[in-house]
Amino acid sequence: MDERPIRRLTGRPEWQFFAALYRAAPGYAVAWWTVLVLNGVLPAVTTILFGWLIDAHQRGHGLGPPLTAVAVSFALTLVLQPVQQMLSANLGTRLSGHLYRRLLRATTTPPGIGHLERADLTNDLTMARDFDQGILGPPLSVSMDFIAGGLMNLVIGAAAAVVLMTFHWWAGPALAAAWLSTHWLLRESGVWKDRNTDRVRLAQRHADYTYRLAVDPGPAKELRYFGLAGWVTERFVAMRRTLYDLQYEATRLRERSVALCLLIVAATNAGLFWLIAHQASDGQLSLARAVVVVQAAMGVSAIAFGGLNWALDGAAAPVAALHRLEHEVVDAGALAAPPLDASLPASPTPAPAPVLRLTDVHFAYPQEPDHPVLSGVDLVIPAGTSLAIVGQNGAGKTTLAKLICRLYDPTSGTVEADGTDLKRWRIDDWRRRVTAVFQDFVRFELSVRRNVAPGSHDITDDTEIRAALRDAGAQHLAGGNLDTILSKAYPAGTDLSGGQWQRIALARALFAVRRGAGVVLLDEPTAQLDVRGEAEIFERVLEATRGRTVVLISHRFSTVRRADRIAVVEGGTVVESGTHDELMARHGRYHTMFELQASRFAAHAEPEYDDGEEVRYDVLD
Ligand SMILES: Nc1ncnc2c1ncn2[C@@H]1O[C@H](COP(=O)(O)OP(=O)(O)OP(=O)(O)O)[C@@H](O)[C@H]1O
Ligand SMILES: [Mg+2]
Repeated sequence: MDERPIRRLTGRPEWQFFAALYRAAPGYAVAWWTVLVLNGVLPAVTTILFGWLIDAHQRGHGLGPPLTAVAVSFALTLVLQPVQQMLSANLGTRLSGHLYRRLLRATTTPPGIGHLERADLTNDLTMARDFDQGILGPPLSVSMDFIAGGLMNLVIGAAAAVVLMTFHWWAGPALAAAWLSTHWLLRESGVWKDRNTDRVRLAQRHADYTYRLAVDPGPAKELRYFGLAGWVTERFVAMRRTLYDLQYEATRLRERSVALCLLIVAATNAGLFWLIAHQASDGQLSLARAVVVVQAAMGVSAIAFGGLNWALDGAAAPVAALHRLEHEVVDAGALAAPPLDASLPASPTPAPAPVLRLTDVHFAYPQEPDHPVLSGVDLVIPAGTSLAIVGQNGAGKTTLAKLICRLYDPTSGTVEADGTDLKRWRIDDWRRRVTAVFQDFVRFELSVRRNVAPGSHDITDDTEIRAALRDAGAQHLAGGNLDTILSKAYPAGTDLSGGQWQRIALARALFAVRRGAGVVLLDEPTAQLDVRGEAEIFERVLEATRGRTVVLISHRFSTVRRADRIAVVEGGTVVESGTHDELMARHGRYHTMFELQASRFAAHAEPEYDDGEEVRYDVLD
């Protein structure tokens, strides 16, 4: 059997939409369809009952039974309409919940993060994320009712066509076909077919971003002192206009299609009504039959092209986007799975702090495979020691930290812990052993407690949290109240400065160390701390991480020199490594940087802070 048509059908967004509807709430979906079909069939039934009523009247029979039937049918119509609206709204809400759940699973399940950084997935991600916000169309709880109404009209038309077949067998199908042709001919007019083009999405993203620039608090400062308010407004208007122009071009009525529709529909209806009139005047059609047939012929018009296509297309698009996303993220966010071979050891037995070894590590980000960031990195960090990594902006230091956290796998080469390739570890086992403060660490809009111990729901006493805060010099922040939410957006919440946030992030890592993490990655952990604070905090951090394997990335040489060993990264490889004294004695790259920065700092520094060590590597770039 040829499976292609079936695959084509099941690949259609509409199919995926109705499948998702059923998966979201099977009981509701069945009830929704049932009420919808009943609502669709009732007008045809009422038409037939009217025929019965007239017939009974003409024959002089009792009018009680037909009148009762008409009344019941009419009452049912009145009752079922609101039921359908209620079911639609409910089902729409359930469907959006179901889709959000699937999206959350798709974004959070992959062990890597590549799927969130791939430009080609951004469109689908945006669509799947924003579908219910009323930006791209009405929310599902609203559009479900449009869809139900549209489908009900199709059933009304089909049922009327069946009734019309009692006049002539071909009359129903012929009139239904005429009205159906409008779907085909006007499809482009009502459906924004270009919804998914890159131009539309790009204009949408530019417009959204410009809008957020204008209304979010973050960019408000720059908007003012760079005088950007007018520019932002103009840009927003221009982007929205582009969007509307694209939409108009894609959906405007095509004159030829409209004319053709009119011709087909008018000719078929004219022919049919002429025939009905002819037969009625000839006496071949009783009054009762004529009323039924005329009403049925008019009823078939419910099939006409209308809002269904638009609503269905709008509602099915996010389901299709999610569908694609679910298939893509599996690869994009994948990491090599640990071997399933049972004879191999599972994750190595935990040691307090592992030795880390990077051997000939090459790496390029997936979206830029031709631009290697790391090309042949060799590094050994003995267990329980610290290694500082220095290098210019963009040298690949943060990327190295990501590989050690195993957010990505190296393109080639290995990262080993205690002699075992990280790919052989179960990812969760490894991540429990590692903690990090990244440059772009997250600032949770949550309590101080949750910021320090985000994953620990089993905490019954705050001793360790307070200790970690103390290690990071953050014990007094938010008045020392662990329940204070770190955002002004909440009642009694508070905002922190950049350096204060950095202390909170450090406390989070140090809390993880207290909970057993043996590898600590610190990517510019003190960049925003004042010089005094930095010296003091760093002492405490060193103390708190003693005996752990620490990788410290920093541009501050006063921090760097305290590490057991230092590696200079340049051009994707390690060009120098050794202790501070060894590297200074070598008079190489490290020495040059250190001296240059030290002398520059000495010339400009305030005497109070001038310990001759406060240098920033990045000033050189
Ligand atoms: N997610 C990403 N996708 C593609 N390229 C990236 C990504 N992140 C970083 N890069 C590129 O990889 C290179 C190394 O970046 P990385 O962040 O590792 O530098 P770095 O040494 O940490 O710099 P800095 O001192 O500024 O923090 C840069 O050229 C950067 O443009
Ligand atoms: Mg970096």
